[in-house]
Amino acid sequence: MIADQSARSLADLLSLSGRAAVVTGGASGIGRAIVGRLAEAGADVVVADLDIERAEATASEIAARSGRRVLASATDVSDTASLAAVADRCVAELGGLHIWINNAGIYPTTGPAIEATDEFIDRMLTVNVRGTFAGAREASRRMQSGGVIVNLVSTTGFRGAVGISGYSTSKHAVIGLTKNLALEFAARDIRVVGVAPGVIDTPGVQAQLAPLAAAGLDVASRMQRTLLGRAGQPDDIARMVTVLASDLAAWVTGEVLVVDAGSLAG
Ligand SMILES: NC(=O)c1ccc[n+]([C@@H]2O[C@H](COP(=O)([O-])OP(=O)(O)OC[C@H]3O[C@@H](n4cnc5c(N)ncnc54)[C@H](O)[C@@H]3O)[C@@H](O)[C@H]2O)c1
Repeated sequence: MIADQSARSLADLLSLSGRAAVVTGGASGIGRAIVGRLAEAGADVVVADLDIERAEATASEIAARSGRRVLASATDVSDTASLAAVADRCVAELGGLHIWINNAGIYPTTGPAIEATDEFIDRMLTVNVRGTFAGAREASRRMQSGGVIVNLVSTTGFRGAVGISGYSTSKHAVIGLTKNLALEFAARDIRVVGVAPGVIDTPGVQAQLAPLAAAGLDVASRMQRTLLGRAGQPDDIARMVTVLASDLAAWVTGEVLVVDAGSLAG
């Protein structure tokens, strides 16, 4: 049972010292910011990404900055053997597995749903849903003394949007997955939570918006038009992921925290 934490200080509750984490898609964007904050909080981290060169650069930069052990792993979340391998590596080289962040995801534009091909639908669901499900399963099998799994969702997991039906559907599924895994893993002291970002300025989003920018849309000022007056940055998400991964959130599971500067509020 997850213990009452009321006698501990805030700083101690936030500390991830002595914990080992895996961040999928940790080489860039939101994942990279998460790696940085987890290491700053005291965790040792594996950066698990398709792009091994970027993962290595991220790992060495954050290791130098934080003084923590940060490893790079060539990982494809659409390949279950690859997920199992990085989970094993975390246990073998970092002494355990306590935190697993399912961050890797793709968001190619679907276009009209009537034109979506089976190949497109399969790819979207394989990376975003099966990759998250299998990642959580492989992590949970290796969490010997409890742990935390954080799934990156999206505000489009709560409502539909024209032209991104594949992505939005995949994120709806991850919200359902978060609740179901929380129910089953609680008996093993594993919390499962989600974070749903609004639009965040990352390489992935910039690539999506490039055609609009090329067509003359002022993408930068459009992204700044949030309730809180500025565009979302990867660290806005990484801070909340770090809190949820820590014992500050010891009584939170099966829930998704929306971090969107109020875009879903009205
Ligand atoms: N940026 C946003 O506005 C936003 C909003 C809501 C949700 N999200 C979610 O946050 C997560 C990160 O988004 P981002 O914008 O930082 O993405 P990004 O495209 O900028 O970075 C994604 C990283 O994941 C890696 N990756 C892609 N496919 C992979 C695979 N099969 N296996 C392992 N690694 C893989 C990429 O190499 C890259 O380093 C995603 O799950 C995304 O759906 C992002």
